[in-house]
Amino acid sequence: MKTGIIVYSNTGNTLQAARRLQEAMKGKGQEAELLQVRAGNEKPESDVSRVRLTEKPSPEGFDHLVFASPVWGFSLSGVMKAYLAGLPPLEGKKIGLYVTHHFPLPWMGGNTAVKQMKKLCEEKGGTVIASAVISWNEKRRERDILEMLGKLS
Ligand SMILES: Cc1cc2nc3c(=O)[nH]c(=O)nc-3n(C[C@H](O)[C@H](O)[C@H](O)COP(=O)(O)O)c2cc1C
Repeated sequence: MKTGIIVYSNTGNTLQAARRLQEAMKGKGQEAELLQVRAGNEKPESDVSRVRLTEKPSPEGFDHLVFASPVWGFSLSGVMKAYLAGLPPLEGKKIGLYVTHHFPLPWMGGNTAVKQMKKLCEEKGGTVIASAVISWNEKRRERDILEMLGKLS
């Protein structure tokens, strides 16, 4: 099974967790490729209609996908919203999701963002099998990352 870990990260946190996930998967003998979504917008942009995607990794060729994004304004980042909304059908793909956010508790943006990602993936016919919320708050970060690795790798 080949996994595509497709990440949007503005300041590096979500990407750092994705690298850990890729290492964990490889450690288990799984094939995992890390791909980044990029936007031309210089500042974080929550309004999806204003997002200009400059790199849109293709989900083709992967049986399993992981999508990952930061939380912005108690919601999924506008960049990930725009990326997922523009994807081709995801029928037959098994999907894991995670978000990173600043606040210590998942209901402070993380849970909402995961629900939004799940809905966007299911609208494309994908099957979401696992999800995780990582607080980047120092006290919770490592524990949350390990929980994500346990669920998604
Ligand atoms: C514009 C903006 C809005 C944010 N809104 C929230 C929020 O609502 N809740 C939260 O917990 N963190 C929020 N954050 C913090 C980020 O979600 C957090 O730092 C995340 O780990 C950043 O991921 P990245 O480094 O991959 O971009 C926000 C950050 C930015 C830049």
